[in-house]
Amino acid sequence: MPKSEIAILDFGSQYTHLIARRVRELGVISRIYPNNVKAERLKNACGIILSGGPRSLVRDARLPFDKKIFTLSAPILGLCYGHQLMADFFGGRVESGKAREYGLAKLSVSASPIFSGVSKNTVVWMSHGDHVDKLPFGFTPIASTGNRSVAAMQNLSKKFFGFQFHPEVNHTKEGKKILANFILNICGAEKNWTTETMLDQIEKNIKKEAGGKNVFLLVSGGVDSTVCFALLRKVLGEKRVFGLHIDSGLMRLDETKKIIAALKRLGDNLRVYNAEKEFLSALKGVSDPEQKRKIIGDLFLDIVDKVMAEPAKGGSGRKKLTGDKWLVGQGTIYPDTIESGGTKNADVIKTHHNRVPRIKQMIAEGKIIEPIKDLYKDEVRAIGLKLGLPQKLINRHPFPGPGLAIRCLCSEGSNDAGSIVPDLVGAVEPTIWRLPIKSVGVQGDERSYAHPAVITGPLPLYKGEAGWGYYQSLSPKITNAHKDINRVLLLVSGDKKSLPKATLKKAYLTKKRLDLLRKIDDIADSAILTDKQCQKIWQMPTVLVPFGHKHGESIVLRPVESEEAMTVSFGVIPSPTLKKIIKKIHALNAVDFIFYDLTNKPPGTIEWE
Ligand code: XMP
Repeated sequence: MPKSEIAILDFGSQYTHLIARRVRELGVISRIYPNNVKAERLKNACGIILSGGPRSLVRDARLPFDKKIFTLSAPILGLCYGHQLMADFFGGRVESGKAREYGLAKLSVSASPIFSGVSKNTVVWMSHGDHVDKLPFGFTPIASTGNRSVAAMQNLSKKFFGFQFHPEVNHTKEGKKILANFILNICGAEKNWTTETMLDQIEKNIKKEAGGKNVFLLVSGGVDSTVCFALLRKVLGEKRVFGLHIDSGLMRLDETKKIIAALKRLGDNLRVYNAEKEFLSALKGVSDPEQKRKIIGDLFLDIVDKVMAEPAKGGSGRKKLTGDKWLVGQGTIYPDTIESGGTKNADVIKTHHNRVPRIKQMIAEGKIIEPIKDLYKDEVRAIGLKLGLPQKLINRHPFPGPGLAIRCLCSEGSNDAGSIVPDLVGAVEPTIWRLPIKSVGVQGDERSYAHPAVITGPLPLYKGEAGWGYYQSLSPKITNAHKDINRVLLLVSGDKKSLPKATLKKAYLTKKRLDLLRKIDDIADSAILTDKQCQKIWQMPTVLVPFGHKHGESIVLRPVESEEAMTVSFGVIPSPTLKKIIKKIHALNAVDFIFYDLTNKPPGTIEWE
C-alpha cells in the first residue's frame, strides 16, 4: 500500500487541528497523533509535522516523543515548539524571552525547495516567547525576521525542516504555498481526501460505533447537529434515530419555531422540550462563565435522561439512558474539542458545553456518538450540501450550544470605573480607556482573562471606511503593549464623557436581560444578513454587558471574519448599516453604550465568555 497520510504529532498547540485542516484542503488525508506515539504507528505516513504547543523547552520538561521518528525516512516539518524541539534534539540551543514575537512579522527567505515560488520578502504569523538561538548540527538557516532567532532552518539531505512561524494560519500570507511545497513536492503525498471519501469514512464509523444501538440526538438546529441528524438517519434509518430539541430559553428570537419548521422536513422523529424555567432556575445567581457552561451541559443531560424515561407513543416505554440500547449523539466538531483542552497538552481556553466532566465520563464509557467530531465547519457544510440539505440552513452563522447564556455577561458588581491607560503606542487621536469588565482570550496557546480597552474616536462612521484600516493596525499594538488588556473596543455610540461615571453592576441571567439581548441580537443580525457587503462576516455575537451609568447595560457588537473559528479578524460593518443598527438599539432606550469589538483572535476569542 502506498504511503498516503500526513501524520501530525500534537504537542498541544491551539493550531494542531488547523494544520490537519490545511493538509486536507490540499486533498491529502491527515491524522493527529499524541506527541509520544510509537514510530511504528506512523508507517503509513509519507510526511510528519511536529506541532507547536504552550510548553517552554527552557522552563518545562521536554515533552516525550519517540526518537525513532527521525529514522523513518519520512520528511519532517517542526512548527514553533516542534521547531525548537528538533533544534534542541539535534544539539542546537533554545532561549527564552529575548526575541518574543506575537503577531505579524516580515520574513526574508533564502533559496530552499520549501520556499519554492514564495516571495523573497513575505509576511508571517509569529506567536512565541522562546526561540532557537543556535542552529543544530547539520542544519542551515533559511529565513530571518531580522532578530537573533532562527526563523526557519533545514537539513536538506534528511528533508528535515523547522519554522518558528505558523504557516497554517491565514495571516501567514504564503503559508498555503509553503505547506503545499512540503506536502506535495517534498513528501510526494497523494491527493485522495475529498467530500466523498470523508462521507464514506464517516458512514463506516457510524455503523461501527452504533453497532445495534439506536441514537438519541440533541439537535440545537445549528448546522452541525442538523448535518448529524441527516447523517445518522441516512446510515441507521429513520426509526433508529430520535431527535430531541431542548428549548433552553437561551435561544435567539423565534429560534425554536424556525428550527422546528426546518427539522420537521427531515422527519417526524423529533421531540421539542421547553426547558426555559429549568435553565433559568439552575443558572440563577451564577456569574462565572465556566460554571455556566457546566450547569448547561449537565442540565441538557438531565433532560435527556428525563425524556428517555418517559413512555413512548404506544406505551412501550423507552429504556433509560443507562440501558445499553441507546447512545447519545452530539454534533461536536473539531474546534469544540481542541479549545476545551481536548488534546492532551493543550491549555484549556474554554470548556465547551459538550465537553463537561459528565459527558467526558460518558464518552469514556462508550455512551456518546459524535459523527463529525473530526471535521471543521466548512467540511461539515460540504457534507450537508452533499446530503441535499437546503443551502440557507447550511450557511447559517454558527451559534454556540450554551446560546445567549455566554453572551449575556453576568457580574458580582464593582465600584471600579474605567481608567485611562497610558498611550504606549502613539495612538494620535483616541483616548484609551481600560474597562473594569473581563473577557476570555487566547495568546501564545494560553488562556487569558483580562480587560478590554476602549478607544473613543475618531469613528470610521465619520472618517469613512479608511478609518477601519487605522484600527486594524492600532488594535494589536494596544493588546501587545498592555499585558492586562486582551481586547480593543471602539465606542460607536453613547456619551464618552460618561465613561468615568460608568461602573460594573451586579447582574445575572434573568428573562428580562435575555429578552433585551434577544431583541438587540435580532436587530443586529437581521441588518447584517440583509446587507450584501456583510457576506464576509462569518459570525456576529452581540454581547450584553452590565456596565453603564444610567441603564446599567451596554452592548458589544462582535462581527468576525474567519474560516474555521481558530483564527479570526474582526469584521467590518459598512457605515450605513452600522448607523441603522445603532439607531434601532437606542430606540429601545435600554443601554448606555454601544461598543464595536476590534479584536482579532488571538488575542481575543470570538465569544466573550
Ligand atoms: P471562541 O469563543 O472559543 O469560539 O473563539 C469558537 C467557536 O465556538 C463557538 N463556541 C461554542 N460552541 N459550545 C458550542 O457548541 C460552547 O460552549 C461554545 N463556546 C464557543 C463560538 O460561537 C465560535 O463559533
